[in-house]
Amino acid sequence: MNAATYRAAVVRTPAGPDSIEIVDVPLTAPGPGEVRVEIAAAGVNPVDLGVVNGVFHALGMVHQPEHTGIGWDFAGTIAAVGPGVELAVGTRVAGLVDGFDRDFGPYAEQLVIPAAQLAVVPDGLDLTVAATVPVNALAAAQLLDLLGDAPADGNRLLVTGAAGAVGAYTAALAPERGWRVTGLAREQDEEFVRSLGAEFTAAPERGWDAVADGAALQEAAVALVRDGGAFVGVQPSARPAAERGISVDVVVTHPDGARLGDLLARTAAGELPARVQAVLPLAQAAEAHRAMAKGGVRGRYVLVP
Ligand SMILES: NC(=O)c1ccc[n+]([C@@H]2O[C@H](COP(=O)([O-])OP(=O)(O)OC[C@H]3O[C@@H](n4cnc5c(N)ncnc54)[C@H](OP(=O)(O)O)[C@@H]3O)[C@@H](O)[C@H]2O)c1
Repeated sequence: MNAATYRAAVVRTPAGPDSIEIVDVPLTAPGPGEVRVEIAAAGVNPVDLGVVNGVFHALGMVHQPEHTGIGWDFAGTIAAVGPGVELAVGTRVAGLVDGFDRDFGPYAEQLVIPAAQLAVVPDGLDLTVAATVPVNALAAAQLLDLLGDAPADGNRLLVTGAAGAVGAYTAALAPERGWRVTGLAREQDEEFVRSLGAEFTAAPERGWDAVADGAALQEAAVALVRDGGAFVGVQPSARPAAERGISVDVVVTHPDGARLGDLLARTAAGELPARVQAVLPLAQAAEAHRAMAKGGVRGRYVLVP
């Protein structure tokens, strides 16, 4: 980076991994309540593949005139603070951006972001690991807010995609709210799912009191809920129809610095799963996207600028 610009990965015309390009972007100073973070690591999430493929442009959720920024969660070090910010330069932080329609993103060397969207990374938690926590741990916590506490007379929760990021956090956190968890995952993921304290299935029966749909199976997962039970999905742009008296909700993950601080502390303490598939340079973002698109990836790809 020279004095006035930083490198960022963007898409101009989204058309898959080959349309990711690295551009130089003018450096901006943080405004009131904001900080500038020197990014150490950015997680590669399924939603990023959708942005790069143009799925969210086609849905009318992105209107960037020049280019669209990529990425959601990240970890790094505070490089500059705006007025009214108490965090000090040099503090290790992690966080996530909010919303689709942006010309910037964490796939970059620098990011200006409201301080309230960040949490301090505990000592001993590597920034490449911390970068994998924000979106998916908060998604699970906020999904469980929608599901609420388990009723005493029906606490059997099926978590689909329990070997994935959202699913694993959901399976790990749900017992605190009274749910008895069974994780749906591939046969080869049984050991991991059981390590979360959950029961395991690769072929679920119907009749669950609730389903948390971390695999985005959608209508097929609603069909597994008992009459009058509860379903929470992960695809806000494709909410399944309600049927048989089932409550249907969908999580829309939003930044929450205070809660993220707790989730990072629990990750550092080994209470929550944290898996890194590989750490790649930012310039290899397209390779990470191609690998993710094939499926079967366990743990996050992390990009280092
Ligand atoms: N709404 C929100 O705010 C929000 C926030 C975060 C994530 N999300 C969404 O949540 C979803 C999950 O994200 P993630 O990061 O957790 O993805 P992930 O890590 O890829 O996990 C998905 C898991 O589901 C498994 N799976 C898929 N179909 C299955 C099936 N039929 N049976 C058993 N397992 C199956 C996958 O296995 P294979 O790899 O073998 O297929 C994978 O282990 C994505 O659609 C993402 O966009 C939404």
